[in-house]
Amino acid sequence: MERAFSDLDRDAGLEIAERSHQARQRVQGSSYFYGELDLKAQLEVLARAGARKGGVFVDLGSGLGKMVLAAALPGVFSECRGVEILPELHESAVKARGALLADLAGRGLPPPSEVSLRCGDMLREESVADADVVFVFATCFPPEVMSSLETKLSEEMRRGARLVLVSKQLAGCCADFVPFGDNNGYLSVGQTHSKWNLDCFFYVRA
Ligand SMILES: C[S@@+](CC[C@H](N)C(=O)[O-])C[C@H]1O[C@@H](n2cnc3c(N)ncnc32)[C@H](O)[C@@H]1O
Repeated sequence: MERAFSDLDRDAGLEIAERSHQARQRVQGSSYFYGELDLKAQLEVLARAGARKGGVFVDLGSGLGKMVLAAALPGVFSECRGVEILPELHESAVKARGALLADLAGRGLPPPSEVSLRCGDMLREESVADADVVFVFATCFPPEVMSSLETKLSEEMRRGARLVLVSKQLAGCCADFVPFGDNNGYLSVGQTHSKWNLDCFFYVRA
């Protein structure tokens, strides 16, 4: 992971995201802010969400693709998908995926799960109907995005699937999503380039 993302730390992600906003004049787009968990937190989140052999992992708003690739590396999920709205971030994620696959192949290591990265709007262009684990780093998603996202998750996610939300909790409309795991579904997680932890909420669809 470190080699694949050697020139793509969190600041690089922020810089790319900002250039991308400016290019498209998405000035009020607080939901396009970039951030990422540190590797330890990514692994904690994945361990707690649980990977079923042959299952599907989806990151809605996948940024540089770090969470998707971290989920794919152990090769337990059959497929790990990410959808990212900013083309420049998406392109960097595709490059990092290529670097990671080449690195693994060069070392004779087994390939990870199938990784699919799409550039598009998570609310309209990515289904989570087949997902076992859905991850959403929602820190900067404004209320209207959260409301549309909750509707989508309620309509599409199947029973038994897990949802991981960073920084946001589900509103009352999602009564059949119940807290999952220790501490009533709560985990404090570290982010890169910051001494501040974020709140992470785990749910399972009953
Ligand atoms: C906080 S970053 C998280 C990146 C990644 N999930 C991770 O954990 O490393 C949130 C990402 O969501 C993207 N985003 C915001 N709104 C989106 C939308 N409607 N569709 C797809 N991506 C979106 C942003 O551009 C940003 O890259």
